Amino acid sequence: MTYAPGRCARIRIVKQIFVIGIGAGDPDHLTLQAVRAIARTEVFFLLDKGEEKADLVRLREDILREHAAPSHRVVVARDPERDLRTSTPGYAPAVDDWRQRRAEVYERLIADEVRGDGTGAFLVWGDPALYDSTLGILDEVRARGRAAFERTVVPGVSSVSALAARHRIGLNQVGRAVQITTGRRLADGGWPDGVDDVVVMLDAHRTFGRFTGRGLHIYWGAYLGTPDEILLSGPLDDGLAERIAVVRAEARERKGWIMDTYLLRRGIPA
Ligand SMILES: C[S@@+](CC[C@H](N)C(=O)[O-])C[C@H]1O[C@@H](n2cnc3c(N)ncnc32)[C@H](O)[C@@H]1O
Repeated sequence: MTYAPGRCARIRIVKQIFVIGIGAGDPDHLTLQAVRAIARTEVFFLLDKGEEKADLVRLREDILREHAAPSHRVVVARDPERDLRTSTPGYAPAVDDWRQRRAEVYERLIADEVRGDGTGAFLVWGDPALYDSTLGILDEVRARGRAAFERTVVPGVSSVSALAARHRIGLNQVGRAVQITTGRRLADGGWPDGVDDVVVMLDAHRTFGRFTGRGLHIYWGAYLGTPDEILLSGPLDDGLAERIAVVRAEARERKGWIMDTYLLRRGIPA
């Protein structure tokens, strides 16, 4: 609501869009703030990423069954496919094109499915602030100017927090920095300067395998927070890198997809 000085208050009616972090796989990751935002939401947008990740859509549906108002609506939209064959030089343009196409989908959802002063929500895996494009895409939608709305972000438990909790560790060593990066960046740029702890996400290529022989320790977790969760940790040398690669490949084969995250730590005495 905005107050315009003068003889009467002018009420600006605007759509409210929640971006709600729902945690990394365990329905109990939901915060009270998320539960309240879900209960207030009229229409939820679920982005279907295809058959392989139907499990992820299912978690969102379970959450809504438990916490959403009986009158809520769900609109499922097909997430535009990203061209994963693109090699590194073409990576940025391919991502730009994919984001554009997603912006068009989001714009249409907000314009067509949320009434004038209504509420809509995107349920985001983990925390919306960490390797998730929803906030950036909503910025793009606002910039295009065809759909007017306000947005509220509800933080969630990220896979990184879940990894640390399940291994009962802190992410940083005393007074030291920790870096969160992707498998691609770690592979391309090598071990970053000035840190002893590196958290790696979005790693389809088992990049930890390139860092054997340096006395590193690994804390690895797949499907964190779900009934399929797998945890492995220890010195990366002496066969653990190979063992994680095998366990990972078997799990991926079994389920058809995998999400894993790990911390590589330098400085633990052998
Ligand atoms: C697109 S990012 C999304 C991160 C998410 N916003 C978060 O806060 O965790 C996807 C990556 O997060 C990690 N990830 C997400 N959920 C996970 C889970 N339950 N177990 C292990 N890793 C997970 C994996 O590294 C995966 O490749």
